[in-house]
Amino acid sequence: MINVAVLVSGGGTNLQAIIDAVNSGKITNSKLSVVISNKDDAYALERAKINGIESKLIRKKDYSTLEEYGEAMIECLDSYNVDLVVLAGFLVILPENLVKHFEGRMMNIHPSLIPSHCGPGYYGLKVHEKVLERGNKVTGATVHFVNEIADDGAIISQKAVEVLDDDTPEVLQKRVMEQAEWNILPQAIDDFANGRLKLEGNIVKHI
Ligand code: GRF
Repeated sequence: MINVAVLVSGGGTNLQAIIDAVNSGKITNSKLSVVISNKDDAYALERAKINGIESKLIRKKDYSTLEEYGEAMIECLDSYNVDLVVLAGFLVILPENLVKHFEGRMMNIHPSLIPSHCGPGYYGLKVHEKVLERGNKVTGATVHFVNEIADDGAIISQKAVEVLDDDTPEVLQKRVMEQAEWNILPQAIDDFANGRLKLEGNIVKHI
């Protein structure tokens, strides 16, 4: 059984999908040990509470350097013996020491088909606005391991979603969540927890 931590900043619908997947047995061999938020008003914290999952508030602004913030995060995560860190809408610049500490054990969900519409500044609705501005006919979501460069780590899984002519960023965001994010993130956690992911350089093989 692996210990999983989920890091959040907002509504936590991906966290909810993970909780539901653990409860329904879609994710096996995994315990949701702790939810960490950098925002005290993140609704994701409420979801953790409702589901009896421990949560912590660790804010960048309470530390003078990014490194100290990273140390605090590592200390907290290690105190729960966390095996896998899942970034599910965690809108914080990641401390290098944190990324190093969890190399090959930290995954992120991004709401586009990487390498399209990703990297610094591409988060939340902005991603879907760019998809519509560019006139993409297909978008989707990507789960990837985290390295020191934003949205650059090895890709674990992707799912395509159709873009429709009359989409707004909000409508498209909802479709990408429903059809892609809430499926591929729990699946990636289950694959990791059951030893089905093998990292070879920057390529993930499913075994
Ligand atoms: C999702 O679109 C996720 O892909 C992105 O941030 C959003 C978080 O949404 N990284 P929620 O907090 O899980 O509802």
